[in-house]
Amino acid sequence: MSTAGKGAARIRRGLNDMSDAIAKLFRSLTHGVYVIGVNDGERHNAFTAAWLCQVAFDPLLLALSVNPGHSSWKILKAAGRFSVNVLGSEQIELAAHFGKPAAGLDKLASVPWHYSARRMPILDDALAWLECAYSHETEAGDHVVVIARVIAGEVIKPDAIPLGYRETGDLDGSSGLYPESF
Ligand SMILES: Cc1cc2nc3c(=O)[nH]c(=O)nc-3n(C[C@H](O)[C@H](O)[C@H](O)COP(=O)(O)O)c2cc1C
Repeated sequence: MSTAGKGAARIRRGLNDMSDAIAKLFRSLTHGVYVIGVNDGERHNAFTAAWLCQVAFDPLLLALSVNPGHSSWKILKAAGRFSVNVLGSEQIELAAHFGKPAAGLDKLASVPWHYSARRMPILDDALAWLECAYSHETEAGDHVVVIARVIAGEVIKPDAIPLGYRETGDLDGSSGLYPESF
């Protein structure tokens, strides 16, 4: 490799190190891992999400950040509702399964689930579930943040430990998505 080539490789490595440092920094923010269920009466689907948190007490609101390229997004918007299924520390396989694009397949077909009273998909093995009604949304770079009102929910396994996003490593492939500098 030429001196110029070595220099370029060093710069690239430096940039990757910085990007890795930012990825690591963001992994120090704690998140749970959830399966978001959607159904608009014609189609249902579900996808893994970590960017979800409570944002108000009165009314009881959650914020969910969604990549609008996901096939679930159109269904969520059409229905104006979604379910949040809380995964447990032993359920990383479910996070991986629902973290893949549906690509024409029914991801729910291989997993035990049922509809809530309002026909949102609930995983039989979830630790807890919530049902949310779309309130409004705001653009957030390459994602859309949905603010939704929590309208129902239940704890199924009160003693189980929820799965942490940190424990999923790079399951979502996010390490390659962080910028190289702030
Ligand atoms: C651990 C993990 C966390 C994820 N968090 C989010 C998230 O918060 N928001 C999001 O839009 N996608 C998130 N994803 C990516 C989606 O689950 C993934 O792109 C999925 O294929 C979308 O499914 P769909 O195209 O069938 O709707 C996450 C994936 C994993 C594995």
